[in-house]
Amino acid sequence: MPLLSIRNLKINYGPKEVLHNISFALEPGEILGLIGESGSGKSTLLRAIIGELSSSGAITDGTMEYKNRDLINISEEELRRLLGPEISILFQDSKNAMCQIRKIRDLLYEAMNAHLTISFTDAMNRAKRLMVKIGLTDTDRILHSYPFELSGGMNQRVGLVMAMLLQPSLLLADEPTSALDVTLQKQVIKEIQLMQQTYHMAVIFATHNIALARQITDKILVLKDGELIEQGNTKDVLRNPQRAYTKDLIEAVPHLRRAND
Ligand SMILES: Nc1ncnc2c1ncn2[C@@H]1O[C@H](COP(=O)(O)OP(=O)(O)OP(=O)(O)O)[C@@H](O)[C@H]1O
Ligand SMILES: [Mg+2]
Repeated sequence: MPLLSIRNLKINYGPKEVLHNISFALEPGEILGLIGESGSGKSTLLRAIIGELSSSGAITDGTMEYKNRDLINISEEELRRLLGPEISILFQDSKNAMCQIRKIRDLLYEAMNAHLTISFTDAMNRAKRLMVKIGLTDTDRILHSYPFELSGGMNQRVGLVMAMLLQPSLLLADEPTSALDVTLQKQVIKEIQLMQQTYHMAVIFATHNIALARQITDKILVLKDGELIEQGNTKDVLRNPQRAYTKDLIEAVPHLRRAND
């Protein structure tokens, strides 16, 4: 049974259809790369999965199931229960995604308390264990900071901790490292991989970065102007792309490919 199954999905912003007939399945523990140029629809697809399209956005056709549950006709209450313990998201810029007037410790506590009966102390211990696991040693300082007091890289790592607190089965990562410099990128990718392996979590990883997709994904979906033009095992797609658009994406970054090989 696939973890996530999407069939013939169509999405509009207002009258304009921006995702056309998207179909794919994601197995438990699988890492799926969602690649395509800017504007191809990567973020729209991820937002649709968590029911967070902007107000003009709407799913107009198709089906979307998570563990055999209909994600399109789900009640808000049921969706709220899924987000965190089952499906979580890591954005490109966690700092902006977080409430700026709350300290990290309160944000982490709220994320847990929304789903669990847990004391503040137990919640902090749990958060600290996770932080240490991904190599954050300065846990007290981080917990007592506001998002704006931390660097972009640190905020991304906190964003990852927050996304992992309830051990979801599916992590949606929307270009989670593209705002970071190369060294930090590698660090955060390693941490995502560690979490993925530790919890056998499936990941959908939207990225422009083919080198990264090559390095960490099992399968790849190629989006072009809202159309899913190619999908398959990462090795097959990158070695033997069937579409000129995919070839162009691959050839656009030869130096990065070498650097990461
Ligand atoms: N809130 C919105 N209202 C109207 N149109 C939108 C909205 N968000 C995105 N779009 C349009 O939908 C299409 C897909 O955009 P989307 O942001 O999903 O692409 P993307 O692949 O994530 O791009 P990027 O790589 O730049 O993040 C684009 O044509 C974009 O202009
Ligand atoms: Mg995007």
